[in-house]
Amino acid sequence: MTGLSIKGPLSDDDILVMEDVGILIEGTRIKSIGKFNELKIAYCKVEVHELKGDHIGLPGIIDAHTHICFGGSRAADYAMRNAGKTYLEIAKAGGGIWDTVTQTRKSSQDQLIKTTMKRAHRHLKNGTTTIEVKSGYGLSVVEELKMLRAIQKANDQTPADLISTCLAAHMFPKDFEGSPEDYLELISSTLFPILKEEHLTNRIDAFVEESAFSEQQIAPYLKKAKAMGFDITVHADQFSTNGSKVAVDVGAISADHLEASTQTEINLLAQSDIISTALPGASLGLGCNFTPARKILDAGGALAIASDHNPGSAPMGDLLTQAAILGSFEKLSNAEVLAGITFRAAAALNLQDRGQLKEGLLADVLLFHSSDYREILYHQGSFKPCVVYKNGEKVYD
Ligand code: NIG
Ligand code: FE
Repeated sequence: MTGLSIKGPLSDDDILVMEDVGILIEGTRIKSIGKFNELKIAYCKVEVHELKGDHIGLPGIIDAHTHICFGGSRAADYAMRNAGKTYLEIAKAGGGIWDTVTQTRKSSQDQLIKTTMKRAHRHLKNGTTTIEVKSGYGLSVVEELKMLRAIQKANDQTPADLISTCLAAHMFPKDFEGSPEDYLELISSTLFPILKEEHLTNRIDAFVEESAFSEQQIAPYLKKAKAMGFDITVHADQFSTNGSKVAVDVGAISADHLEASTQTEINLLAQSDIISTALPGASLGLGCNFTPARKILDAGGALAIASDHNPGSAPMGDLLTQAAILGSFEKLSNAEVLAGITFRAAAALNLQDRGQLKEGLLADVLLFHSSDYREILYHQGSFKPCVVYKNGEKVYD
């Protein structure tokens, strides 16, 4: 891309298409990008892999919002929703997130490591080289720690980068003796210091919604997290519209979901430095409207696109497909969709070392068998990369 602005609309003219390109990788990073033949002469001693036939190179895809660490399945919820029950009705009746909490608590740390790695490997094969992974199905100090340690261990054993986030404020745990405020106080005073000590995460998330926490309950919790140096992200405006305001007030890095955002919230987000993250997988899983991505960009906002891969609202877990479909429904350019899953997604995770094919950045590179980059989204996700490099290593071929 030439116009690498984080905010606002992008057109396909902003995409810099280079031909006969070589990428020089040194260690985990891109050392140089230029004409293949010139690089070959300038660096005559390096090992050369010359590709046969036309290929398109893209930066590794970044999925800035997932819940891939979980136990069990919620196929029953999906069937109930398709029979007419809503996500919130199922949650109120004791199903939904609480069902996965019960199943995740029953899983051992080793089982969580294994299933998280399995899901991460599938994503990596499909080109997602960086995957944010939330806790949030533990909902007690001990169980949240089990999840976050499992994510850390899974990260050690997979070539993909798993960026963990603490979502202990996913909902008020039904078995907690005390008020929601007591629960949030316990988490912030007991769990947050351990997260720092064990380097388990530097990100705190919260679900602001009728079935989870109110604006008034969550604001002090997130402000405390921010004061302790955590980056903040918020599940905002999924069904009602209070979350984005909290996200702006506490200076969050990203506000995710936004399916219910009206022009008021869209403008508020666009006037801030927040990345607005659309989660088309949740719209597809729940059969509801998409995040107003076009309006967010036209208002001057920053749009990332993530899969929200989780057992409840977004079981599909295929970011390229979902991003392409969002682009089709919301009338997004190739540049806007690709930016949303690369450098704008990197911004949503506050990562400066990836998201572009650029000297000095991580050598996370995807190759697609094609001579036209537009083929990638045209096939709506069914066209997968033929080669995936992560940190300079070929991890899938
Ligand atoms: O991002 N909205 C809240 N949390 C998740 C869903 C989690 C679940 O249903 O298990 C989401 O959609
Ligand atoms: Fe989510």
